[in-house]
Amino acid sequence: MKIQQNISLKDYNTFGIDAKAKFFIEISNINDLREALQLKGHPEILVLSGGSNMLITKDIEALVLYINIKGIELLTQDDDTITLKVMAGENWHQLVLWTLQKGYGGLENMSLIPGNTGTAPIQNIGAYGVELQDVFVGCEAINIDNQTKKSFNKEDCKFGYRDSYFKNEGKGKYIIVSVTLRLTKRNHAIHMSYGAIEAELVKKKIDTPTITDISNAVISIRKSKLPDPAELGNSGSFFKNPIISRSKFDTFTKDYPDAPYYKVSSDAYKIPAGWLIEQCGFKGKRFGDAGVHKHQALVLVNHGRATGVEILSLSQRIIETVKDKFSITIHPEVNIIK
Ligand code: EPU
Repeated sequence: MKIQQNISLKDYNTFGIDAKAKFFIEISNINDLREALQLKGHPEILVLSGGSNMLITKDIEALVLYINIKGIELLTQDDDTITLKVMAGENWHQLVLWTLQKGYGGLENMSLIPGNTGTAPIQNIGAYGVELQDVFVGCEAINIDNQTKKSFNKEDCKFGYRDSYFKNEGKGKYIIVSVTLRLTKRNHAIHMSYGAIEAELVKKKIDTPTITDISNAVISIRKSKLPDPAELGNSGSFFKNPIISRSKFDTFTKDYPDAPYYKVSSDAYKIPAGWLIEQCGFKGKRFGDAGVHKHQALVLVNHGRATGVEILSLSQRIIETVKDKFSITIHPEVNIIK
């Protein structure tokens, strides 16, 4: 285990923010993680993995632990399903491609989500009608205070929309080291009801799609809307889609009858934040090197040398403008490191 000093985090966060870490350790196994957590003199730590859901706004004084633990283990299988334990440092999209190659179904709608597997449960990643919780069995995490390993089942994780125990009561207490997923080996559940997928399949003249067809459709849609972090720094959706009450929704649709929405329950309606932000005129706008993506207003981008503070202040300006125009408060989805 090597402690590196004063290293740039530019290549470790998908926003490409050039902040420095005073102390940085790459963790490739659980023993190293325990040892690093026992180091004296580092009361604060920052856990970094894919760096795909964070905005770093300053140099980091805390000890940065870069979780790069690899491995995929087959736990159980029968004729229909397979259970896999995937270590936290496995890249999510590479995992999706690997499962598809083996013919395992369940992850195809979540193709091309940036980041690593260990962080997937924290925000219950999801896309195109499927969320991690649909395939999730459990995860293992190391307690930061006493370094013991704890197993969490699905219920313990308290998943919600882009939400979990690890973002609330469990925040800052655990480091996830592995995730267990149950996938199908046959009779795959094909989820294609999400509008954009159906349209993409029609375009490709596919009526009975395989899991690979779904993955390819999702990849095409994402590539057309979402910037590749390797080319343009970003962190996927910067904001969560706000959920409003029935009474607020009634007033909102009276004023904006053409606004898209999804009904979550009889008293909860989700409004796409991308639409709200676009209506405020921000789509494609650029303020220095901080900007709003031209194809998806929910995504903030770094055109090159934006600082975390510049992106943060753009996000605050967007929140205020949306609030003034629609009386709806939108909240960041990304983890802001202040
Ligand atoms: N829309 C606009 N303008 C925009 C963007 C969107 O009017 O600039 C409208 C679209 O026309 C559509 C609606 O908003 O009617 C929804 O747009 P989209 O299908 O692109 O999905 P989203 O709600 O904006 C969410 C996730 C994405 C995920 C997609 C597909 C959140 C915060 N974001 O976006 O997740 O890929 O659905 O499932 O829930 C991520 O979390 O990083 C992410 C990219």
